[in-house]
Amino acid sequence: MKEYLKHHEWQIIEEGLDPHYNKISESVFSIGNGRMGQRANFEEEYSGETLRGSYVAGVYYPDKTRVGWWKNGYPEYFAKVLNAPNWIGIHISIENQKLDLAKCKVEDFTRILDMKTGLLSRSFVATFADGKKVRVESKRFCSMAHGEIGAIRYAITPLNFSGKAFLSIYVDADVVNKDSNYDEKFWEEVYKAASEGKAIVTAQTKKTFFHVTTGMRYVVESEGKKVNYGRINIEQREKFAGNIIQVDLVEGKELVVYKYAAILSSENHPKDQLVAACNKVLDEAFTKKFDKLFEEHAKVWEHKWEECDITIEGDIAAQQGIRFNIFQLTQTYTGEDERLNIGPKGFTGEKYGGSTYWDTEAYCLPFYLSTSEPKVARNLLIYRYKHLEKAIENAKKLGFKDGAAFYPFVTMNGEECHNEWEITFEEIHRTSAMAYAMRDYVEYTGDKNYFTEFGLEVLIGIARFWAQRVNFSAEKNKYVILGVTGPNEYENNVNNNWYTNYLGAWTLRFAQQAIDYVKSADSKRFGEIVSKTNFKEQEETSKWKEIVEKMYYPLDEKRGIILQQDGFMDKEILRVSELKKEDRPINQKWSWDRILRSCFIKQADVLQGIFLFEDDFDIETIRKNYDFYEPLTVHESSLSPCVHVILASKLGYKSSAYDLYLRTARLDLDDYNNDTEEGCHITSMAGTWMSVVKGFGGMRIREGKLYFNPFIPDQWKSYSFRIEFRGRVLKIKVSKDGVETKLESGAPLTIDVKGESVELK
Ligand code: BGC
Repeated sequence: MKEYLKHHEWQIIEEGLDPHYNKISESVFSIGNGRMGQRANFEEEYSGETLRGSYVAGVYYPDKTRVGWWKNGYPEYFAKVLNAPNWIGIHISIENQKLDLAKCKVEDFTRILDMKTGLLSRSFVATFADGKKVRVESKRFCSMAHGEIGAIRYAITPLNFSGKAFLSIYVDADVVNKDSNYDEKFWEEVYKAASEGKAIVTAQTKKTFFHVTTGMRYVVESEGKKVNYGRINIEQREKFAGNIIQVDLVEGKELVVYKYAAILSSENHPKDQLVAACNKVLDEAFTKKFDKLFEEHAKVWEHKWEECDITIEGDIAAQQGIRFNIFQLTQTYTGEDERLNIGPKGFTGEKYGGSTYWDTEAYCLPFYLSTSEPKVARNLLIYRYKHLEKAIENAKKLGFKDGAAFYPFVTMNGEECHNEWEITFEEIHRTSAMAYAMRDYVEYTGDKNYFTEFGLEVLIGIARFWAQRVNFSAEKNKYVILGVTGPNEYENNVNNNWYTNYLGAWTLRFAQQAIDYVKSADSKRFGEIVSKTNFKEQEETSKWKEIVEKMYYPLDEKRGIILQQDGFMDKEILRVSELKKEDRPINQKWSWDRILRSCFIKQADVLQGIFLFEDDFDIETIRKNYDFYEPLTVHESSLSPCVHVILASKLGYKSSAYDLYLRTARLDLDDYNNDTEEGCHITSMAGTWMSVVKGFGGMRIREGKLYFNPFIPDQWKSYSFRIEFRGRVLKIKVSKDGVETKLESGAPLTIDVKGESVELK
């Protein structure tokens, strides 16, 4: 855990440049706008440790799989979010000395991410080897108002000299992915052009043939007036275009480079019109200028914050934490484009390939359901509906048949692209995350028509998968599910992971409910679905019913708890508190076999099931399981603490709930798991939001009614959040004095607060 960032309600602040933390800060200070995003790399050259990363939504590369031991059924490739052309570069050299913070002496370094307005700033004083000193102040944003525009204001002031400087201002598509399996470069040049003040490069991805056109225009000003450049060299090499200009620096006078970038992809424009469209966007940005563009961008942020801010009074670390999570989520996915999804690292790093995981359905959906119009969550569901055919193909590859749908663990276009047998083949619970998301969506919005239009087809496919994946144990006279990995990935190839069995059986019941609904609501459409899916209703559903009735669940009757899987109690049961500090995190310190043999749990597993199906369990059962499993959980997946916060809150374990909350909210800010340098944990950030709203706020929906059962952590004076619910906006404020509920817009509504009915008008 590191604590080098300053606490502030609206800003993330780093003071002093510690090169050891640079990659962490590059992740934390990332900026984006849903269409693109980037790590907080420096504009100037940097020869120190850095992970350069700019990303364009939806643009990926299928990198040929690299594994030690090939297994049938592995996908051919792992889809990677691509490090896209770099548009931020502004290199400075003064008398043959490069401005490079790894080489110059650096003082007064500050990096600030203003979350209110989505602005990344940096300032420092650098001293070159010959003693020349410059002050630099840079500001940069990815426009939320115009998804294809980025802008930089880069100001340089010589502090103790006057003289000539060379500025290289460019766009560069000659970039690499650090995680490239065969050290291959993924981009090829299609087009480039550079002229005075302007450069454009179109690059194409190998194999997937996405085109990305990246253009820039710039102007250099002093005291608000364009300066004359001494010499201009047009710089062009493969995949690279820019200008090198010579400028005069005058001691004490600020020289400002305004650089405007346009980043367009063939996902949104016909390939042959990309350059023309890029020129248009560049002209628009150039004419509007930095301040106006920023004003428009900040306005969008203002509106976003109105929709989804959570305020916490009396605890700045907690306030900063939740805002950071909401900020990153909002700049990763705006919900406008149904082809896009939320990668576990968003636009902040390469790890996890920027692909879609069950994280979206299991963790992110509730955030978007409550903070955006229903269309956004619906788009996330439709994304999976569109992948149904691929999920059926994926199941087929693994030997399933008759329209069984097995959704991938990791995907870009619906195909599985993960290749670790214990996850690809065994972590099967993920296919039902799609079903659970539907339940969440329909319960929240009341839009049952979703089943009729899209949902039922998906549910039939998933139910078929479970009906084929179980097997009947004559020994137990029960259906069992063998050879699986549950959410806790520190156990592989186990039999009867309770979470998996429970979810499988629930899916079969849920599919039946959806069938009943669609049949009665729209029998014609039901007929269409039956023939489209070749559904043998009677035969298939009676099998489902039998499985549900005879599903086996591992339990420890003596202790009164659910067993994570068969044989769990054969392990030596230790507590995480008994682990030595130097053994943590165990996934970085222990061999895999030691992890597998141990009782330590990576992330909520039994407790994940209890969280999802809370109303199926009485409070004592929840307590016993929580008391047993929480002490064994190392929370080495970022997805874990939030689930524990919600259960701890329900059980009245206020101080554990608060500690776990801080851990999830400040996971990246404090680098709890020692891995933030690879990127931020974007999907778990939605879990942080749930920790406050469902955990502390105790929000639940039951049969279309909203329930709140809030408490306030001792450290806080008050907290408040807003939610959208069925055409209304509600504000909930919880303080030591009680709970205030307010209907900000929409028709009157009755809600339940701590067991009492409250009429909101
Ligand atoms: C977790 C998975 C998760 C993935 C991406 C892994 O560490 O165990 O549950 O889907 O990260 O966030």
